Amino acid sequence: CGIVGYIGTQAATDILLAGLEKLEYRGYDSAGIATVWEGEVNCVRAKGKLHNLRSKLEQIEAPAQIGIGHTRWATHGKPEEYNAHPHMDTAKRVAVVQNGIIENYRELREELKGKGHQFVSETDTEVIPHLIAEFLKNLPPSSPSSSSSPLLEAIRQAVNHLQGAFAIAVISADYPDELILVRQQAPLAIGFGQGEFFCASDTPAIVAYTRAVLPLENGEIARLTPLGVEIYNFAGDRLKKQPRLLNFNPAMVEKQGFKHFMLKEIHEQPGVVRTSLDAYFNPAESTESPINLGLPADLYTDLEQIQIVACGTSWHAALIGKYLIEQLAGISTQVHYASEYRYAPSPVTANTLIIGVTQSGETADTLAALAMEKERRQGKEPKYQARLLGITNRPESSLGHLVPHIISTLAGIEISVAGTKTFTAQLMAFYALALDLAARRQTVSKEILEKIINGLRQIPKEIEATLESQERLTEHLAHEFAETQDFIFIGRGINFPIALEGALKLKEISYIHAEGYPAGEMKHGPIALLDAKVPVVAIAIPGSVYEKVISNAQEAKARDSRLIGVTPVNDGEAAEIFNDLLPVSHVEELLSPILTVVPLQLLAYHIAARRGLDVDQPRNLAKSVTVE
Ligand code: G6P
Repeated sequence: CGIVGYIGTQAATDILLAGLEKLEYRGYDSAGIATVWEGEVNCVRAKGKLHNLRSKLEQIEAPAQIGIGHTRWATHGKPEEYNAHPHMDTAKRVAVVQNGIIENYRELREELKGKGHQFVSETDTEVIPHLIAEFLKNLPPSSPSSSSSPLLEAIRQAVNHLQGAFAIAVISADYPDELILVRQQAPLAIGFGQGEFFCASDTPAIVAYTRAVLPLENGEIARLTPLGVEIYNFAGDRLKKQPRLLNFNPAMVEKQGFKHFMLKEIHEQPGVVRTSLDAYFNPAESTESPINLGLPADLYTDLEQIQIVACGTSWHAALIGKYLIEQLAGISTQVHYASEYRYAPSPVTANTLIIGVTQSGETADTLAALAMEKERRQGKEPKYQARLLGITNRPESSLGHLVPHIISTLAGIEISVAGTKTFTAQLMAFYALALDLAARRQTVSKEILEKIINGLRQIPKEIEATLESQERLTEHLAHEFAETQDFIFIGRGINFPIALEGALKLKEISYIHAEGYPAGEMKHGPIALLDAKVPVVAIAIPGSVYEKVISNAQEAKARDSRLIGVTPVNDGEAAEIFNDLLPVSHVEELLSPILTVVPLQLLAYHIAARRGLDVDQPRNLAKSVTVE
């Protein structure tokens, strides 16, 4: 979900709608806007896409200069208009939008009902405007001579009663010159313009207006007026803060001629690999490693174990990371779903490094797992606290505040919900990390290191070649599979996670049931599903498991499955067994995942596009899920 806010001299509704459009990519199922005009709150909400909201707003003439907007991804209550934000108090004087979850909303609601408040939605958010109104009732109204704000004070008192993780924006009909923001474990940033201020849960909504941005920290309240911005903590003490300039330009959030952001982002991958190579494989003079990740040496000393937490596509990148770290650096590594790790963590030791992987840096499950880990290391010797590392595409995110060390992935902003270039960028981070560890621990020779790095340097042009040859092939294949209902993806070794990722991409955007399996495991169950209606995509790259994958693929063919091979071009044997080929160049098996994932991304894309689906914003999904 997304939050936007505006206070200034322009028409707020247009700016709020434009901001919400930039947040559409994060996924939502309803939207709304509230403004203050002529002493009233005007609140307009609509189920479904933003154009529904836009057409409702066109019927209303309210040139307000202050307002808040929201796109909602349903958590508590169905995606219906009555559950959409903004929510208001009974007298309709206070309007609130919220991202996150108010955990104690049931008890608050009962308490407020007892005091005469009437509730009209099923959401947790609705308690907030009522609570604020309740506290406002008990405060003296502001006098023109006083600089203190009753609205700010009532909100401060209200948030001290809220439990959970939330970002909130509030306006009130009685305080038409104030926009109040609160951040508690869900992102919210302020944009500074000329005599106007913006706020948003994610910076793409602001960059068209200003690049001077101040991200709020947990436990902060901001009061925006036409005259300026004041920041306070939850105790009410004023804090001193300065905005900083974003390294970001509005063109990054345009489609640049591609039909969808996803297709544009798939095509950006050669550039992402080049940027990563330049940044990571560019060592300072006289170091023991050819890699420079900017991490302190003591993060690596005596390392015995690595635990990685992540979700979704990042979890798949982590599985490849595990393969690389174990095979190259010989450090035992486990990969956990972040949502599972939190409740069943591995034993903590001084020599265990924990890595959180999240492209957005805002996924609540991943943050919660890392916060838990940080807490249980507190009070132990410094080594424990230092061994927390984040891998993210948004170093300015909540993850950036949580962990002491970060590897920034260099994908640039990704708009499509289904991750593609951020996955590739995460793989590059893992190649760099595994090779850095291997160099420092001397687990592979200099010659081998050099060979791998030289191989990586060839990858961008190999991806370019793959993109060129595959665009038409996958489009053509997509035509034949537009009506298919089930897909199986198989791979082994370092390409097993790519089978998972190929299946996830297809599920996410085309709504076709797909499963990824280690090729050798297919005969232990999934083979029962196979017949002529279930195609099998096999990733078969010459190397340690090639022959095995080919025989597993043959087992599928014997059950009448149509076989699609992601395999090197001109490979005689492969060409014979596969019904269709998605050829990739010959590369070292160790480097192949960066290449084999590309045709699978294209296949998913073209199937979804052919089915006429909303590729960039698939149903029920959000770009970053900020609830656990
Ligand atoms: C959401 C998205 C997935 C993504 C996952 C993890 O569920 O729909 O596509 O892989 O979050 O996101 P992260 O930002 O933590 O990498």
